[in-house]
Amino acid sequence: MELPEELQFIANARKIQKKTDARMDGRVCIITGATSGVGYQAAKRLALGGAHLVLICRNREKAARIKEELMHVSAVQIEIVQADFSQLNDVREAAGIILANYPHIDVLINNAGLHNTHRTLTEQGVETVFCVNHLASFLLTRLLMDRLKESAPARIIQVNSQGHRFGGLDLDDLNWVRRRYNGYKAYGASKVAQLLTVWEFSERLQGSGVTINAMHPGEVRTNIGMNNGFLFRSYQRYLLWWALKDPRISGEAIYYIAAAPELAAVSGRFFNQTIDEKPAPHAMDRTLGKRVWLISEELTGLS
Ligand SMILES: NC(=O)c1ccc[n+]([C@@H]2O[C@H](COP(=O)([O-])OP(=O)(O)OC[C@H]3O[C@@H](n4cnc5c(N)ncnc54)[C@H](OP(=O)(O)O)[C@@H]3O)[C@@H](O)[C@H]2O)c1
Repeated sequence: MELPEELQFIANARKIQKKTDARMDGRVCIITGATSGVGYQAAKRLALGGAHLVLICRNREKAARIKEELMHVSAVQIEIVQADFSQLNDVREAAGIILANYPHIDVLINNAGLHNTHRTLTEQGVETVFCVNHLASFLLTRLLMDRLKESAPARIIQVNSQGHRFGGLDLDDLNWVRRRYNGYKAYGASKVAQLLTVWEFSERLQGSGVTINAMHPGEVRTNIGMNNGFLFRSYQRYLLWWALKDPRISGEAIYYIAAAPELAAVSGRFFNQTIDEKPAPHAMDRTLGKRVWLISEELTGLS
């Protein structure tokens, strides 16, 4: 039985995913949030593919352990840059370090993300999930954009989520002052905002040799949500856990989008792991996207 279009993502998740044997030897790949879950698996797969890795992580000790481990997996170059994405100044500093040290960037993977069950604000006064999941990746991408263009062909991958289907984006209430906070909706809002800017980025990048795509990494066993309270953590570990997949599939999917020769000129798409998919209609609203772009510029100090 054919599923209606809005449920096609369920069928896509069951399809055989694509893979590539293409090598990434020496290619400079910057990845955020590689200390756990999806990002860790992607870094591992990229190391196996020979990539030169730059890990942007908030916890230097954790990152050092991952670096040590990955260097045993494959004799590749790995450097660490520290940044907490709830602090946009950290993102600016990390971008500064990268621009000073890497004259060439082949791939930028914006993966770091979180899910909060309770509303918190960053020191700057922005709802934390919106800041970490969307604003930080938006700012980092913008700050590295000229270098990516100089390095073309280059690829940007936004690790997004089917959670964008939860909706939740209200540009007049990004901080959830007027609405009761709902963790899934707040997560959805951050992912919708990120997706809407992918279409904007892609349009601006036309003809530059730099592509940008978003992807859902699969429903996989990671630490996402484990920063929350006992009840949520128990639900995640003891109930949800069994329905989730091995996060190695996410690493393989990200590698495919980063390395597959057939995707060299593909931009402005959303992939369910590796299957090209139509996002929810509210995440395709270009008028809303233009407003998100301007608000994101304002909140990140780019305007
Ligand atoms: N797991 C899934 O089923 C799933 C489904 C759809 C989409 N995703 C997306 O996949 C991405 C990775 O999530 P995951 O599932 O792998 O979760 P995870 O295991 O919790 O990993 C999240 C990564 O992001 C980092 N991070 C979190 N907050 C940060 C901050 N303030 N500053 C800098 N780094 C921060 C974490 O660092 P620490 O190690 O220091 O905590 C970790 O490296 C997210 O964008 C998520 O939305 C995941």
